[in-house]
Amino acid sequence: MKSPAVLLGCFSLACSMSEATGIPKWHPPGPGDLRGPCPMMNTLANHGILPHDGKAITREAVIKAMHQGLNFDSTLAIVMFDQAVIANPEPNATFFTSDHLNRHNVLEHDGSLSRTDAFFGSNHIFNQTIFDQTRRYWPEPLITTSHMANAKIARQVESKSFNPEYRFTDSVEHFSLGEMAAPFIAFGDLEQATVNRTLVEYFFENERLPTELGWDVREEVVKVEAILRISDMIGEATSLFTTDSDGGVGHNCTKRALRRGFHAGARRGE
Ligand code: HEM
Ligand SMILES: *[C@@H]1O[C@H](CO)[C@@H](O)[C@H](O)[C@H]1NC(C)=O
Ligand SMILES: *[C@@H]1O[C@H](CO)[C@@H](O)[C@H](O)[C@H]1NC(C)=O
Ligand SMILES: *[C@@H]1O[C@H](CO)[C@@H](O)[C@H](O)[C@H]1NC(C)=O
Ligand SMILES: *[C@@H]1O[C@H](CO)[C@@H](O)[C@H](O)[C@H]1NC(C)=O
Repeated sequence: MKSPAVLLGCFSLACSMSEATGIPKWHPPGPGDLRGPCPMMNTLANHGILPHDGKAITREAVIKAMHQGLNFDSTLAIVMFDQAVIANPEPNATFFTSDHLNRHNVLEHDGSLSRTDAFFGSNHIFNQTIFDQTRRYWPEPLITTSHMANAKIARQVESKSFNPEYRFTDSVEHFSLGEMAAPFIAFGDLEQATVNRTLVEYFFENERLPTELGWDVREEVVKVEAILRISDMIGEATSLFTTDSDGGVGHNCTKRALRRGFHAGARRGE
């Protein structure tokens, strides 16, 4: 049972909420609405959870949106805002817009799952050709951290091979792993570290929350630790090594550490 205030809100807003969830109705961007390279920021704007015009994304707006759309705690939302506001070229800005996020090599980077590199075309509009490359690495109905790691590496190898301006720094890697964790955080099972592929494809392709597929905002509050845990798992799963016994799916950190030590030693001529 929703609280009376929510029901009242529903009446006074002429029931613009969808029936089962607190997610406002989806409207595609209109002329003049700004959108960017982040499928989730675009999605939240399409639902009016962030400003629908994609402008004036303030700290308050991010805290509210991350809570309403994803049940993030405010600490996590503030961390994300503080990392993002540098995308606004004005010094000491208190907001950013969706198209600030398009600035290449500020936050936006090469090797994305669903956008082409700036060198080849639009770095921020959803690109079906690119996303179809990504989807090849999600061969099962449930996406695992290993599938996500494979998609990430594949896009980077493609970019590194054919984009003469390919750039992917340590700091990009840090952001990229967070982005790879995002679908698990938004739509997945955090215990199992899996996420339903149908929901993820629907989200990327429509920039819409998958309420009509039965998804709802998770009940448990999401904290920064959850993102770090899933990001780390994906980072681990990007290793192209296997152990002798596990046939290519498992990861033995001890063995990997030994192997790394060996190679590092060999390079030092030990
Ligand atoms: C203040 C909040 C956020 C900002 C400023 C932001 C910004 C960005 C930017 C600039 C990119 C582009 C990186 C690239 O070039 O690939 C990106 C990608 C991405 N973001 Fe966000 N993001 C935010 C929150 C979120 C949240 C909460 C989620 C989902 C839980 C999310 C999901 C994603 C995903 C999945 C990508 C990768 C897209 C791809 O590789 O094609 N983001 N984000
Ligand atoms: C930005 O903030 C810094 C530190 O508070 C201050 O020194 C600087 O003058 C500010 N710049 C502008 C353009 O307001
Ligand atoms: C989509 O990506 C392909 C491959 O990089 C590129 O040729 C095409 O121009 C891109 N489309 C847009 C709209 O950028
Ligand atoms: C994924 O979600 C779709 C849509 O709700 C559902 O039909 C399907 O059974 C789910 N798949 C798995 C593996 O849970
Ligand atoms: C990982 O590899 C090490 C070194 O070969 C071995 O001692 C250890 O038992 C392995 N651990 C697992 C979980 O397989």
